[in-house]
Amino acid sequence: MATVISGKELATIRRNSMKEEVIEFGKKYNRLPHLVVILVGDNPASVSYVTGKGKACEEIGIKNTTIKKPETISEKELLDIIDELNNDSTVDGILVQLPLPKHINPDLVINAITPSKDVDGFHPINVASLYLKQPGIVSCTPKGIIEVLDFANIQIEGKHAVVIGRSNIVGMPVSKLLLDRNATVTICHSRTKNLAEITNTADIIIAAVGKAKFVKAEMVREGAVVIDVGVNRDEVTGKLCGDVDFKDVEPKASYITKVPGGIGPMTITCLMENTLECYLKHMEEK
Ligand code: GUN
Repeated sequence: MATVISGKELATIRRNSMKEEVIEFGKKYNRLPHLVVILVGDNPASVSYVTGKGKACEEIGIKNTTIKKPETISEKELLDIIDELNNDSTVDGILVQLPLPKHINPDLVINAITPSKDVDGFHPINVASLYLKQPGIVSCTPKGIIEVLDFANIQIEGKHAVVIGRSNIVGMPVSKLLLDRNATVTICHSRTKNLAEITNTADIIIAAVGKAKFVKAEMVREGAVVIDVGVNRDEVTGKLCGDVDFKDVEPKASYITKVPGGIGPMTITCLMENTLECYLKHMEEK
């Protein structure tokens, strides 16, 4: 029987302490932190994520503006909005919900956000800062994963961490964060041969592959820590499920996260932390 690590519980603890900080800083600086989220189109998953981000802001006391634009918005119009927000001293964080429609180049959009307002940590300056161990904004999901491991007092140093998935949003940055904590890191992906052989040598598995219930018991060593980053729909039940087949894997793992209630709530919480961090930097620079 594994211990289930509740990202939701940690998120509640963090959000409660942020709530108090926001009140204090709001008094000190006479202005609340302000996050602007841009949503293009009406992709149901994106609408749901953006709603979740708005609710978290409300809960913590962070000012939130959601700019909704139709699917037909041009790249130039979107870049103009970002430019305006970059120059607005009352805006601390800018987040453009991805994916964007095909006619808009996401790299151009991300690169247009001022790095000091890039709460997603997706701008090349922030990505480079992570890899060079310089101060910058660390993207939310990888940050949340490390916070969840720390919350459960899981030792990272010296452990073999196997990351399944090499995306810019999760796989690559979490690998760097684990390496910075002195884990030995293996990154696996769709072309990896003998995947199960590798995952069976893992002390910590980070499943960020984007395939429902992909990680099965036979891929997991007895006593491994299994962190599920997936957000998928079960084809049969239509319910939200992770990249890990929880029922199958749980008896073999020592610690495991669930979907929902695992990494997801911490991703949003880290977004709030990043917004607060950007706000404090802006206020201190003034
Ligand atoms: N779409 C899915 N995940 C994310 C995320 O973390 N940030 C943004 N901006 N869009 C997303």
